[in-house]
Amino acid sequence: MTTFSYTKFLAFAVWFTLLCKNRLTMQESGVGTCPGGRSRGSNGVLGQGSGGACVRILVTGAAGFIGSHLAEQLAALGHDVVGLDCVTDYYSPELKLANARALRSHGIETLRADLAEDDLSEAVDGAEVIYHLAALPGLSGATFEEYERNNVIATQRLLAAVRPSTSMRLFVNAATSSIYGKDATGDEEAAPRPASWYGVTKLAAEQLVLAAFRDSGFPGCSFRLFSVYGPRERPEKLYPRLIHSILTGELFTLYEGSEYHERSFTYVGDIVAGLLTPLTVRERCVGEIFNLGIESAITTGDGIHIVEQIIGRRARIERRPARPGEQSRTRANIAKARAILGYEPSTPPAVGLAETVRWYRDEILMQRVP
Ligand SMILES: NC(=O)c1ccc[n+]([C@@H]2O[C@H](COP(=O)([O-])OP(=O)(O)OC[C@H]3O[C@@H](n4cnc5c(N)ncnc54)[C@H](O)[C@@H]3O)[C@@H](O)[C@H]2O)c1
Repeated sequence: MTTFSYTKFLAFAVWFTLLCKNRLTMQESGVGTCPGGRSRGSNGVLGQGSGGACVRILVTGAAGFIGSHLAEQLAALGHDVVGLDCVTDYYSPELKLANARALRSHGIETLRADLAEDDLSEAVDGAEVIYHLAALPGLSGATFEEYERNNVIATQRLLAAVRPSTSMRLFVNAATSSIYGKDATGDEEAAPRPASWYGVTKLAAEQLVLAAFRDSGFPGCSFRLFSVYGPRERPEKLYPRLIHSILTGELFTLYEGSEYHERSFTYVGDIVAGLLTPLTVRERCVGEIFNLGIESAITTGDGIHIVEQIIGRRARIERRPARPGEQSRTRANIAKARAILGYEPSTPPAVGLAETVRWYRDEILMQRVP
């Protein structure tokens, strides 16, 4: 066996073992499952509270990267899941439509609605839990008005639609480590110092959710996610660009100095596992902020090296000036999530990246998805 295929085999074996272990753990512990649902469990707190029926859950941003994984996992746990997404063209709508088709094959319909301007009454009607992931993410060439529209106005309109609802039990907001700014290593009490329009508008969105809690006990909470990667990842992000470049022989753009940036690169499965926790410990989450991510950070240079090893080829790097607003260090401090929610992300980068390479090669390049 060559070094290349041995590395791949090893990564696959570790990944497969972890996958089986994670599935088993979830089923055994009954995390957030519904009695009578497709996947039965005994301690789905919200499920019990709603008279044994499945919980009706709305996932905004369901056609996106993280939202689609979350919606699928919620449905697998037996919940009645509906997605909402307006399919922005921030990146290829084809990718989002493919995600929506995958959701449909799991029995999840995605309503096409724009949180920033459409009537949301039908979408939120009867929802007991809302996961709010719709946003304009990342650093891009978008204007401030676009960030404000999709992150602040969208969140404000969703809250306005849902606050009068009597069925609402839990509202989970997806926030970001970008709220902390250039150095995202502190705990949830650290002062927010966002250095980008993205970070500023996501902080405003988070505060809108928490203001509703402070004002009237609205059952909102917020999770700050750290550098999420995995299958269906947004195409403009580091790993899809890198994997594409190595597999096709094209140049890979590396922003000046970024190989030394530290990142808590966190596998999407570990993020979804954290987002599920409020379903079972709702009362410990409402009004709170939690960091979600893997504690052990690696440099972007290390990440590039791992992918090169998995594929067995070097990237052809083209350097570009540093991007404004880029974080220099993210290291998820998850002491609070571990103590209160029992959160324990476990996927090592070599395992998660091997799965990401497999996805990109088999489902994007081979299928010629744009
Ligand atoms: N990916 C990461 O590394 C990361 C890290 C931290 C936080 N987050 C947060 O997680 C969430 C999901 O991020 P992602 O990486 O999956 O992004 P994504 O772009 O893949 O998903 C976001 C989805 O929201 C939809 N959307 C945007 N504006 C909308 C609007 N006005 N109305 C309805 N739908 C709208 C988009 O069409 C898209 O499908 C975001 O809130 C993001 O800020 C992501």
